[in-house]
Parts: sequence; structure tokens; C-alpha cells
Amino acid sequence: MGLENKKNYDFLIKDVKVPDLKNETFIVRDILILKGILQEISAKITNDIRVIDAKKNLLISDTIDIHVHTRDPGLTHKETLETVLKASARGGFSKVVAMPNTLPVIDDKEKYLDVIRRASKIKGARLFQSCSLSKDLSGKTLNDFEQLISAGCSCFSDDGLALYDSKLMERAMRSLKGSGSSLLLHSQSEGIAPEHANSEIFGVYRDVLLSELTDCPVHIQHVSKKESIEIIVKAKERGVKITCEVCPHHLFLNESNSDLRSSDFKVNPPLRTKLDSKELIKYFSSGFIDVIASDHAPHTSQEKKTSYEEAPYGFSGVETLIPVIFSELYKKRDLNIFKIIRAISINTSKIINADIKGLKTGIRPDFTIVDLDKERMINKEALISKGKNNPFLPYKAECDVQMTVVEGEIVCQNL
Ligand code: DOR
Repeated sequence: MGLENKKNYDFLIKDVKVPDLKNETFIVRDILILKGILQEISAKITNDIRVIDAKKNLLISDTIDIHVHTRDPGLTHKETLETVLKASARGGFSKVVAMPNTLPVIDDKEKYLDVIRRASKIKGARLFQSCSLSKDLSGKTLNDFEQLISAGCSCFSDDGLALYDSKLMERAMRSLKGSGSSLLLHSQSEGIAPEHANSEIFGVYRDVLLSELTDCPVHIQHVSKKESIEIIVKAKERGVKITCEVCPHHLFLNESNSDLRSSDFKVNPPLRTKLDSKELIKYFSSGFIDVIASDHAPHTSQEKKTSYEEAPYGFSGVETLIPVIFSELYKKRDLNIFKIIRAISINTSKIINADIKGLKTGIRPDFTIVDLDKERMINKEALISKGKNNPFLPYKAECDVQMTVVEGEIVCQNL
């Protein structure tokens, strides 16, 4: 281990603000990490190793972005495992869940293990790779879930190529129920363009009903319509095991402030109305939306430069999610900060059954430090991701990610 590496595993963080999510309070602590292991957490620690003064900035344990497209293998002109995992760490995520729509599709044990092996060598966020529900995302034949679960896969999704065949979806739910793995569903309907609101609304309704019928927990990805969230709220209230996520772009961008016919703003689900954004924020604030995820979907500038019809759907977003949501929800709208923290950490961990490490001694911790008072102008050139197709940029953030620690190692530092 070189000196630089050693330094990244041996350090003392002074004066960091640690949230107590249960009691919704903060406590200021020093944290000592030696050889990547959390040795001590207390009010005052002295040690002559590398000291990082956190200046009462906020620590968030176990951050996860549950919805990321890595493009690797096969689409590495858009993104690679290296760029996406480093970009995620810069964005403050210690873990990300990758969608399987690569080339080839991640739908068998060999492809799954190849990605996991390559990702494990990269100094960046840890990768949870999902596998497709249907073979080759064909929507026709279900995958061999047993084989994939035994290889370590814990998330399944057909994402934007939603499994339209309801019989097949019901079978997938019955097979995965009780397996400890998660179904992540981009709900939409066959034959209706995503731009039409009913595509999502009918899709959400079907997936909620199938989840209720099979008693299988389901996570609905990137909800964008008021009517969809209302269906989910009603289902939650009658005990259906549904969780859901929203993306920053659906919370803050809509037809009132974005040109919906421009390919730069083309995404699936599409940006909606001002009322939809308002309602999503309202339901997030009242606790019905579990998770905020980026749906990081990098494309080249060339691909996005074409007409709306020809351009691919998708926004790059993993590097701006944390700055945007803390700026917009906490600083500007004064929403409960603990709710925001849960939506990018423990709520997500629970959905994918990831270990919630927290800050216990003896473990290799995953955490992020965010400066809630530091302004940062984020522009396209600053992004590590190859995908510069981020609809928020340039963006004046009212906070900045200072450091990301993964398995007790500093993988990104801006302090
Ligand atoms: O906007 C999107 N982009 N939505 C999806 O469902 C897929 C994604 C992609 O892979 O580019």
C-alpha cells in the first residue's frame, strides 16, 4: 500500500455533525479510522495522524443512489464503470444501484459477475448491479432468478422496457416474493407514448394491483405524475407493500421552467406540469415518497444534439442530486432535513436489503460529508461523468459534497 493509499485509510475527522435519525437531533463527534476500520467515535479524540477538520459539516452514513445507468459494458462512449463510480463518489454516494440495460443486457451469472469484479477494482462508489427481469429485456421469458440470486444479485428490473405482459409480471412477483431481492419497476403501459400521462398512471395502477394480489413488495421507480403518487398513497394506506422514488428533475423542472420539446429536456418519464412537481414535493414532505434517486442516464452531446424525436431519453444526474436536493428542499424550502437524509440513505438500504452500517466501531464505514453552507457553481465541465446532459446545469448550489468514504477509505475529497 503506497503512502497516498495509507493516508486514505488512516485519518481522524474532527467536529463532524452526526444526525440521530430516530430522535431527529444532531451530535458533534470526532471519528477515528485506522486501516479503514472505525476505531473510535467520541466527543474528543486526539491522534497525530492525518486530521480532517469537518468544521461541523453534516455526515450522512450509507448514501445510495438506487437508480443509475452505467452503460458498461457496450455503451462506454456514454459512460464507463470507472467514470460513473467516481462521479457517484463526487456526488456523495457511497453506493449505487445500476440498471441492467447495457450491451449485452446483464441477464446471466457470467455478465453479472464480470461487472461486479470490474467494479470492485475501482476507487469510487460500490456497485449493486441489478439484473433484468426478462431475458435480454425482451419482455418474453423470465430470467433464472435462482441462479442470479445465488451469484449475489439482489435487485431485478426491466427499467424503461417495462415488462408489459401482466401474466409474466405476476409470475416474476410470485417467484421473487420472499427471496430477499427487490423488484424495481419503471411502470408504464404498452402502446402509449411515455409523453402521455396515462402511460405511467395505468402502469403504476397495474403494478400496485399485482403487488397487492401476490403480496410481493415492489419499488416503483421515478414517479412523475400526481395521479401516480395518489394511487401509491392509497395503496400504502391499505397496507400494500409498495415503496417509491422521485427524481430531482421531476421535483423542480416542469413545463413552466423547461422547454419540453427540446431534446435537452427529453427524459422518460417526461417532465410534467408545475402542479405535478408541487404535488410530488408535498407528498415527499408528508412522508409518502421513500427515496430520491437520480435515474442517471448519460448520453453523448452528439446524441442529444439531434431533434426531439431522434434524441435518446435521459439526464445525467448522479453528481448533482445531493447538491440540488439540499439546496432546493432544505435551504430554499426548509423541509425536514432528516427526511431528506433518509431518502438517500437508510430508506434506500431497506428497499434493496443493503447493510446499514452506521457508525459502529469495528466496521469499515461508508459515509459522506456535506457542507451545507458552501456555495458551488456546478457546470458541465466540472462533471466527472461522461454524460454532460444534465438539465440543471449551470447550477448554483447552496451546499457541496466535501468527502465520500467507502469501506473506510476516502475515495473523494474536496475539503
Ligand atoms: O430517461 C430515461 N433514460 N429513462 C429510461 O427509462 C431509460 C434511461 C436510459 O437508459 O437512457
